[in-house]
Parts: sequence; C-alpha cells; structure tokens
Amino acid sequence: MNDIDPIAGNLEAWDEVAPRHAKHNQQRLLDSFKDPDFTLLVPREIEWLQALGVAGKDVAQICCNNGRELICVQRLGAARCVGFDGSAGFAEQGRELAAAAGADVEFVVGDIHKADAAFNSAFDLATITIGVLSWMPSMPDFFATVARLLKPGGAVYIYEQHPVAEMFKVGEAGDPVEFELSYFEKAPYVETDGLDYYGFERYDAKPATSFMHPISEVITAGIGNGLQVERFEEFPDHISNSWYNLEAAELGVPMSYMMVMRKAA
Ligand SMILES: C[S@@+](CC[C@H](N)C(=O)[O-])C[C@H]1O[C@@H](n2cnc3c(N)ncnc32)[C@H](O)[C@@H]1O
Repeated sequence: MNDIDPIAGNLEAWDEVAPRHAKHNQQRLLDSFKDPDFTLLVPREIEWLQALGVAGKDVAQICCNNGRELICVQRLGAARCVGFDGSAGFAEQGRELAAAAGADVEFVVGDIHKADAAFNSAFDLATITIGVLSWMPSMPDFFATVARLLKPGGAVYIYEQHPVAEMFKVGEAGDPVEFELSYFEKAPYVETDGLDYYGFERYDAKPATSFMHPISEVITAGIGNGLQVERFEEFPDHISNSWYNLEAAELGVPMSYMMVMRKAA
C-alpha cells in the first residue's frame, strides 16, 4: 500500500491525465456544444432529472470532471450550475466547453470534502455521475459533504457504475471475464499506469487509489447524513469505458444504477 494521502494523490493523478483526455475529446466536444440541441445525457438520465424538476433548480455537480454533463443539465433549464472538481486542468477544459456552449457554469477547484462553507445549503440538486464514489475513501465523510451543500428538501441524484461490476477485471469485448475484487473488499486499490480510459495510453503515472463501496454502504452513509432514499433502480447497462468484456458476456451482472436521496425539508 502506498503512503500517499489517497485524496491528494488522486487529485494529482486526475490532473495529470487531463491533457491526455483533452487530446481525444476537447475539440470534438467544443464542436458538438455549438449545436444548442446537443446533449450527452441518455433518455433515462433526462427522465430522472426532469422528474426531479431540474428546470429552475440550483445544481451542483460533485466531481464534474470537464463539466460536459453539467452543461447538458443546464440545457434542461437548470438555474445556477456549479461544478466541483479537484483537477484544475479539467476545470479549465470545462470553462472552455461552457463558453462554446453559451452556458453559464461556474467551476470550483479543490477536494470536494473541503468545499467552501459559502456553498453550504446552496443547492436544490447535487448530481454524482459515472466514476465518482469509488475515489472516495469514506462514504460517511463524502455524504456529509453532499448533505451540507444541499438546501433543506434538496436531493442528490446518483448515476453510477455498479460495485458488482467493479468485482471484475476490465477488458475488451471477447476478453475473459475474470474475478478481481471481493464485493466486500476493504483494502484500497492502487493503479500506477494512468487513467487514460480514452486513449488507453499507459504511462508512469501518479498513484490513483480507489475503494470498493457496496450499495448498502452508500445508502447507509446517506441515511447517516439525513438523506432518505426515494428512488433506486439497477441496470444491466455498461456506462463506463471499462468493462466491455462483462457487457459482451451478458451474464446479467448489474453494471449501473440510479438513486435519488433527499434531505429533510
Ligand atoms: C471519472 S470522473 C467522473 C465525472 C464525470 N461523470 C465523468 O465521467 O467525467 C472523476 C472525477 O472526480 C474528480 N475527483 C476525484 N476525487 C475528488 C475529490 N476528492 N474532490 C474533487 N474531485 C475529485 C476527478 O478529478 C475526476 O475529474
């Protein structure tokens, strides 16, 4: 196990990969966002967000990366939109994308757990999507922050990879499906060959540390921070750039889920 603080190390690892992701995505996204009807949100996301009454709501995206999803959320009529991410490089890409899209999105850089108290109770809706929870060492600490940012009566919407999928080694379609981690694994998982899941470039990278969090841990952390589950659904659909082998094997493994938790009014 490495002795680097996992949060600080992860932020360095993410910032290090930002220019590599940009090489593959930025120009394509800049061009796409010039079309006012362009969205990256799939119909299921739009349905859940609209059911939450996203139009007119103040929205925070927690760990927003380059903000491409938040720009699309604003296109559904959201009011104030603030993207929080620990990578200055991705935030800079996000500002460029927002300008191209004509979207008014603020970007705040830093460890989400240390989000400024000025954002306390500022948001009707917090969104967490695809590849966030596994970077957090502690679900109770993370959901304490999420709950702190929500207004009374506000909701957190989660669209995430399913931790059951994370039990398996990633691979291309046709690669064998191989068990890698227990669903109940407590030890951190450290990667040192980079986070370039667009170009699949391997490089001598800063260590990136991730954690297995069973669904029960997510729900319990929410409840412990005053958030009640009001909607939850699991899906067989693959939503990352990782487990093409598992998807192709059609084993009926849950690969993604959506959940809404709400803070008491
Ligand atoms: C896989 S992205 C997920 C976001 C988005 N759904 C996407 O697909 O790009 C993970 C993001 O979390 C950010 N991140 C990880 N740990 C963080 C922390 N402690 N505080 C703030 N941002 C963090 C990284 O910088 C990265 O941009």
